[in-house]
Amino acid sequence: MILAANLKTNHTRASAASYLDEVSDFIAKKEIADQIVVFPPATALCPSREKITIGAQNAWSVENGSFTGEIGSDQLDEFDVKTILIGHSERRHILGEGLDIIKRKFDFFASLEYEIFFCIGEPIEIKEAGFEAVMTYVERQLDGIDLSYPSLVLAYEPVWAIGSGKAATSDDILSVHSAIKHICDKPLLYGGSVKKENAGNILSLEGVDGALIGTASWQSDRFCEIIDIAKKIEKPKE
Ligand code: PGA
Repeated sequence: MILAANLKTNHTRASAASYLDEVSDFIAKKEIADQIVVFPPATALCPSREKITIGAQNAWSVENGSFTGEIGSDQLDEFDVKTILIGHSERRHILGEGLDIIKRKFDFFASLEYEIFFCIGEPIEIKEAGFEAVMTYVERQLDGIDLSYPSLVLAYEPVWAIGSGKAATSDDILSVHSAIKHICDKPLLYGGSVKKENAGNILSLEGVDGALIGTASWQSDRFCEIIDIAKKIEKPKE
């Protein structure tokens, strides 16, 4: 299973370092075998640790250049970061990244052999239009993305479930994940209001290979509680 913490615009360089120490200690003590990934803010990037992969929340699709406010792969190389989140709904919907920018980022970081966590998911009005509309929307987000890319991890994150405290229902997750798995047989995470109260249920569902966690990951002890719940789930190999 893959458990990924998206720290978003939270934590300083100092607090992120303590956070990583606490998560590392927990993983070692509990002998956690799942893949643990943390996406800190850009100012807190650091090399991956033995059992924690560090990923970038964002970077522009260049090595370097004139892109004020952005970082490129040169800056990520400084920390040996080779994992990146692309297509998160906050970048799509708040920061206005369209399909073309997202595809360019995917192609650039794939050419550098990054592990790419690629987020997809529909806004509420599409959800309300029904399952067919959801799948048409999600398929459009995947259009032009090389789904055979070896280091691709997908994350289905319905926009309306992110940060709302209301995760998708098991039925919603099962039906969308099963449909996505027919399009792309890569690890598929669920994201959107995953917390300790629902993690056991969500992570046990067929077609869910892990979770991308925002709010409930920002405190190390809360993230560790979810890691602990995941450890106890035994899933048949699909
Ligand atoms: P959330 O965020 O867990 O706070 O809903 C998830 C995400 O944005 O990846």
